Amino acid sequence: MAAHIEVRNLRKVFQFGSSKRGLLALSEVNFAIKPGEFVCILGPSGCGKSTILNILGGLDATYEGEVLVDGVSLSSTPSQKRRIGYIFQEPRLLPWRSVLRNITFALESVGHPRSAARETAQSFINLVGLTGFEHHYPYQLSGGMQQRTSIARAFAVDPDILYMDEPFSSLDEITARSLREELLEIWRKTHKTILFVTHNSMEATFLSDRIFLMTRRPGRIYEEVTVDLPRPRALDDPRLFALNNRIVTNFLSTIGELRGARGA
Ligand SMILES: Nc1ncnc2c1ncn2[C@@H]1O[C@H](COP(=O)(O)OP(=O)(O)OP(=O)(O)O)[C@@H](O)[C@H]1O
Ligand SMILES: [Mg+2]
Repeated sequence: MAAHIEVRNLRKVFQFGSSKRGLLALSEVNFAIKPGEFVCILGPSGCGKSTILNILGGLDATYEGEVLVDGVSLSSTPSQKRRIGYIFQEPRLLPWRSVLRNITFALESVGHPRSAARETAQSFINLVGLTGFEHHYPYQLSGGMQQRTSIARAFAVDPDILYMDEPFSSLDEITARSLREELLEIWRKTHKTILFVTHNSMEATFLSDRIFLMTRRPGRIYEEVTVDLPRPRALDDPRLFALNNRIVTNFLSTIGELRGARGA
């Protein structure tokens, strides 16, 4: 079951200590994502992409505005009822558990029996290319291998919604490419709702149905681009390059203008 997500007038101020003045990270963020849609948020570093995902993922409850999942406010939904998978910008594994146990632990905590959890975990370990490393601990893995473990964990839990925060940006391009293909394959089979954050416009164009373009801080979505290209997409498709160019040009002119408007 995929979910519908709606964000209305989202605003986020980070407060520092007792100071009255805070940092306005997000202002007037509005968007809607259809069930089963694959959407990318594209924006420059520091524009508030992770802040949006943290709020939508239920990790940050101090915001103004409304987040609705299938019409129900996030603030009124108990966390254990949310079928959300989250892949963070950096792998967040439990350091005292092996690759296999990091994944089975997540599965058991959502009610999978231990024996089935082991089998499911193994199939996702194989999928991300970590066969043979099941019993390694996070400190025995490279950064990319840790990130692949966290990707396997999120996929294995089979959530309705996947929030992915630049999951492939720390990986080498060859691994990233094969994981992008795998992600699309999983999405094609399951049609989860996916919100994927990136600052790589080629990646956004390759993956998504729609791309939300964000301004610099305070971040807001200033344009939604529909990626009207048939799937499966080829990385050397000239239409992909053309769209990518349009997006980059659009960014340069908009962000340039904003900078001018702020007098920076
Ligand atoms: N916990 C925090 N406390 C204070 N300020 C924060 C906090 N987290 C983020 N910020 C600020 O909010 C703004 C948005 O940060 P965020 O991490 O959402 O950016 P981002 O778009 O994900 O950037 P990147 O692409 O570099 O990951 C930044 O100016 C950042 O300094
Ligand atoms: Mg970020």
